Amino acid sequence: MNSLNLQQPRTISLADISAQAERAVAMMEQIRSAMLAPTARKASPVFNLSQVAGFCGIEKGSLSHRLTKGDLPPGRLNETGTRREFSLAETRAWIRAYRLASLRPAGAEAVTISVGNFKGGVSKTTTAVTLAQGLSLLGHKVLVIDTDPQGSLTTLFGILPDTEVEEDQTILPLAMGSETSIRYAIRPTYWDGIDLVAAAPLLFGAEFALPARQTQEPGFEFWRVLDLGIDDVRSDYDVIVIDTPPSLSYTTINAFMASNGVIMPLPPNALDFASAAQFWSLFSDLTTELLAKRGLDKAFDFIHVLLARVDSADAASNIVRQWIGQTYAEKVLPVEIPKTAVTGVTAAEFGTVYDVARYDGSARTFKRARDAYDAFVGYIEGSIHGVWARQTGAGRAGVLNGSTPQSKSVSKGAKQ
Ligand SMILES: Nc1ncnc2c1ncn2[C@@H]1O[C@H](COP(=O)(O)OP(=O)(O)O)[C@@H](O)[C@H]1O
Ligand SMILES: [Mg+2]
Repeated sequence: MNSLNLQQPRTISLADISAQAERAVAMMEQIRSAMLAPTARKASPVFNLSQVAGFCGIEKGSLSHRLTKGDLPPGRLNETGTRREFSLAETRAWIRAYRLASLRPAGAEAVTISVGNFKGGVSKTTTAVTLAQGLSLLGHKVLVIDTDPQGSLTTLFGILPDTEVEEDQTILPLAMGSETSIRYAIRPTYWDGIDLVAAAPLLFGAEFALPARQTQEPGFEFWRVLDLGIDDVRSDYDVIVIDTPPSLSYTTINAFMASNGVIMPLPPNALDFASAAQFWSLFSDLTTELLAKRGLDKAFDFIHVLLARVDSADAASNIVRQWIGQTYAEKVLPVEIPKTAVTGVTAAEFGTVYDVARYDGSARTFKRARDAYDAFVGYIEGSIHGVWARQTGAGRAGVLNGSTPQSKSVSKGAKQ
């Protein structure tokens, strides 16, 4: 114990807090520069021949043979001349060539997916980023939209929300009504195949702007701002992934209303289960109030509950897993993301399992985490194909087509 402190209790002024806040921001900048030295920008992984072949679903030999044709990027030999390496962009060119049948068909547009849950720390942001990266490694072109003022997703892309994000790189101008298409805010990222709309604390302004416009502008529908804002870019992307704040805010409602599908990461523990239940009842109350009263409706193409951060050593999680199964039934994805040291370690380096080219820890630990995310991304790609099939009328009734009506967005069906 520090006796000095006991004798002279000192209050903490707002100026103290302000100085402390500045130190924290400066520390983030230092950490980031040290981690991402020398360029202070994140670098995407480089892949070897067998990894590229694996992504393409072919044998290494077939890939070597195709290389001789010279119609796909040849990569380059490493310094010792023993290994061929491919950049992410080159790898994705190969993937797209070999996964043509799984790519977005003509006439279909981006499938929009929100990742949401009331609570912080349930792995929403990790799920959003790994999903975007995983889908890009299946050849898809992805736009990620960070709608959480905390900007954790933005940080995972190596950008510091507090110092490096301007208002016009976020959805704020859309919320304020000075822009109508989100195009102004889109920027490329270090990851080929993923573009970003960033977030920063200034985005809290949207929580004031949206309700203010609702009272001031006749006929304004605050919940449709993002939906209408992304219309302009829906044909430029295969998938749009939206990360949301840990609350049912005006922005979160916008994200859900703009989405074909929703993914709710849910760790199997009692408090998270309770919080998820509250989320859905509040969502239901709110949308009934907003839409049903106006004769509008909203249908989702899919809602998936993803068991996330599952701790196999925690006996209680088995019971909660049963509650989740009974409550959400077929909405629960048949894959679980384990609580893993890989995410912990790589997150400390502002990254995900897909950022790690070589894991220093146990290969088994890494494979377990990577396999789980790969399986998750695979299921979501299946849901995306289902939506595209519906959009193009190519789905077989009852299989891909399902029985739910197509949901482009709120009210479009009901109004027009
Ligand atoms: N599967 C996992 N295993 C272990 N830690 C995880 C896992 N997924 C996420 N985390 C960690 O949990 C914390 C919260 O995750 P995050 O994705 O930011 O959640 P949210 O967006 O819901 O607040 C982060 O430190 C993240 O690295
Ligand atoms: Mg988050």
